[in-house]
Amino acid sequence: MENFSVSSICCIGAGYVGGPTMAVIADRCPEIQVNVVDLNEERVAAWNDKNLQNLPVYEPGLDLVVSRARGKNLHFSTQVERCISNADMVFISVNTPTKTKGLGAGQASDLRWVEACARQVAKYAKGHTIVIEKSTLPVRTAEAIQKILKSAHRNPSSDKAQCSFSVLSNPEFLAEGTAINDLETPDRVLIGGEDQKAIEALAEIYRHWVPDEKILRTNLWSSELSKLTANAFLAQRISSINSISAFCEATGADIKEVARAIGSDSRIGPKFLAAGPGFGGSCFQKDILNLVYLCHHFGLPEVAEYWERVVMINNWQQHRIARLVVKKLFGTVTGKKIGILGFSFKADTNDTRESPAIRIAKDLLEEGSNLSIYDPKVEIEQITHELNLQREDDTNTKKETSLTGEGAWKYASNIKDVIKDADAVLILTEWQEFRSLDWESLAPLMRQPAWVFDSRGIVNTEQVKESGLNIWKIGDGSDQ
Ligand code: NAD
Ligand code: UGA
Repeated sequence: MENFSVSSICCIGAGYVGGPTMAVIADRCPEIQVNVVDLNEERVAAWNDKNLQNLPVYEPGLDLVVSRARGKNLHFSTQVERCISNADMVFISVNTPTKTKGLGAGQASDLRWVEACARQVAKYAKGHTIVIEKSTLPVRTAEAIQKILKSAHRNPSSDKAQCSFSVLSNPEFLAEGTAINDLETPDRVLIGGEDQKAIEALAEIYRHWVPDEKILRTNLWSSELSKLTANAFLAQRISSINSISAFCEATGADIKEVARAIGSDSRIGPKFLAAGPGFGGSCFQKDILNLVYLCHHFGLPEVAEYWERVVMINNWQQHRIARLVVKKLFGTVTGKKIGILGFSFKADTNDTRESPAIRIAKDLLEEGSNLSIYDPKVEIEQITHELNLQREDDTNTKKETSLTGEGAWKYASNIKDVIKDADAVLILTEWQEFRSLDWESLAPLMRQPAWVFDSRGIVNTEQVKESGLNIWKIGDGSDQ
């Protein structure tokens, strides 16, 4: 069987997936020209920024990979049409958020960007083009993409009559914060499709650095559904351990000990058992809700209800943490300063999408507290956007001392500013720098009696206690 030869790739969507994934492909396949295109001019400009600190996505190691390939065989631009025309292979890596209105609002994925891509490919592609679903999509989306692409050469008199397409599903399993490592040494690469030649053409690209036994070939629908299922299982593990964290707090057990005990069972395994403030990120909730929607669509309400519970427990965990902060601070946080350490949804990323910090901060603002927020990688504008609330002017101290009941927040550029005069400090992201804070020197800066709320279970409890502070740690029932 003679393979398709791929010398030019176009990736539509220069986001958290498209940018890093294409950077690694370009880095590993120097003979292939890789064009990443996006409609967002600002984002493209940031990908082209000479200063690698300004790349739009923060990922450890990404700057090095980009610096090796950019300008050689890795290009970022807004030239969608030209790059599609020149490509042998087009990756669709655009956003697929939950629909906010219309049919399926709140659950179904919004496929408008994916459909727009399919139409663009249908219009501008030349010759034979392999079209790859990289975005996470509802099962059977490939069918719709195939139909749109087929319509491109329905008119036999147009030059499009020469066009043909193969559609593959190649979902991405990278996690933010470890994206480069995940891309360079993946547990597996999944390729779903019907056209064996196209499957092997894509496999050939990955074989540049991934052993063939790790490249799984399936049919289209299994591939699409495996991606949703993988995220649902991962999220389910977090909701499971978080539900038990509350149980530990109620009974005197310790979630770390429980996690170690159950994780030592090789059938369960030790990963993804860290209790926390609930899962965030752009995908877990979106993908489970999509699964729930599809289950209803296919007449499986019991299955839908089962998976919906995973999201419900996650929401409950976030509200639970905000509520217990209020409870421990004598039932009111009105006018109190609460320091928030960490706003991204996990460490080592600047992404705040669906971060548990958003819901917890909003709950505390609702209670009238004055938040001081610090995150090593998240910008002020991003926090403003997520909280949908302008920050307090740095010079305005009026609110801090008032008991108006109106919540407010400030941006802090360092940890000391967060802690100074605070009644409580709440750790929401497990950034490395929060693990080894010197509580002895920080404690005197706080207003006493003061609290440390550790929602990630990362601080040294004894040290905090010795410094005279009260501590609540996720899933630690030892003080109950
Ligand atoms: P993102 O929002 O960061 O990036 C998507 C980009 O696509 C945006 O920059 C947007 O401007 C661009 N875009 C949209 N329509 C376009 C069009 N017609 N032409 C050109 N550009 C267009 O999204 P992301 O986080 O990279 O996620 C992309 C997909 O990958 C989603 O389906 C997501 O579920 C999936 N996924 C994400 C992750 C992750 O860690 N973020 C991991 C695995 C899978
Ligand atoms: C997740 C999956 O891990 C990826 O495989 C998948 O490709 C991706 O979603 C996606 O489809 O977008 P990501 O959301 O980037 O990756 O990060 P995770 O490491 O999975 O963390 C998700 C959330 O769960 C974070 O808020 C994290 O803090 C939380 N988490 C994770 C826990 O609370 N406990 C854990 O043990 C692990």
